[in-house]
Amino acid sequence: MLDPVGRVALITGGSRGIGREVLRRLHGSGWLVSAGIRNAGKLVAGPDLMLHRWDAEAEGSSEAWVAATMARFGRIDAVINAAGINPKGLLLDPDESAHDAMWRVNVKAPMRVIRAAWPHLVASGEGRVVNLSSLSGKRVANENIGYAMSKFAVVALTQEVRRLGWEHGIRATAVCPGFVATEMTLGAKFPREAMSRPEDVAALVEMVLRLPNTASVGELKVNCRFEALL
Ligand SMILES: NC(=O)c1ccc[n+]([C@@H]2O[C@H](COP(=O)([O-])OP(=O)(O)OC[C@H]3O[C@@H](n4cnc5c(N)ncnc54)[C@H](OP(=O)(O)O)[C@@H]3O)[C@@H](O)[C@H]2O)c1
Repeated sequence: MLDPVGRVALITGGSRGIGREVLRRLHGSGWLVSAGIRNAGKLVAGPDLMLHRWDAEAEGSSEAWVAATMARFGRIDAVINAAGINPKGLLLDPDESAHDAMWRVNVKAPMRVIRAAWPHLVASGEGRVVNLSSLSGKRVANENIGYAMSKFAVVALTQEVRRLGWEHGIRATAVCPGFVATEMTLGAKFPREAMSRPEDVAALVEMVLRLPNTASVGELKVNCRFEALL
């Protein structure tokens, strides 16, 4: 396993939910963490935790964040894309605004963070990318087809990172959970206590970040209930 001490991780979505648990876990285990966030909330910056304003929908945001992280820490070894949204985007509703928002936030924003960090991930020689997709990126099981399409696209993005980055030592993983008990699932018709916990998803993220180049996991499906084909 890779030694995380001194390695630098960029993370989006660190203000809440899964991203916050990943941030906590990495911060507590030797990583230098740079969080791209809109609102710091209760997060407090420190010598090994940098907070930088990042909005998934703002042009130039990823480039500015990567530049500031390089100025502060001098290297980037990992990108964790956890920011995401799930407004309802239906097949038969002609209003496509939710579809467009999910394409911008769930797909194009992680692509831009990866693109901005790319030369530094290459320089690392052991660059890592973890993208939060979803079981909704593996099959269609409810009416929010816009969310599913965006999460299928995140799987495609992850596969392209693996293809293009492999010879440079970059390894990428799409993490695909079912229900996770965060604000995103507050309205879900599924018992909260039976959902996956964000801290358990964070433990999986940390594990794949630490696997060596010779033991890469491209996709992790995380179930909180039985599904025959997953
Ligand atoms: N919860 C689940 O059941 C579940 C299952 C499978 C996959 N996922 C995926 O896992 C990831 C994390 O989900 P979660 O459950 O932790 O969600 P969450 O609790 O709703 O948190 C969403 C995170 O995304 C950030 N975000 C949203 N829009 C943003 C924007 N325009 N710019 C910057 N940051 C933005 C939020 O920041 P603010 O605090 O600034 O709003 C927040 O940190 C998402 O990609 C989600 O699709 C979740």
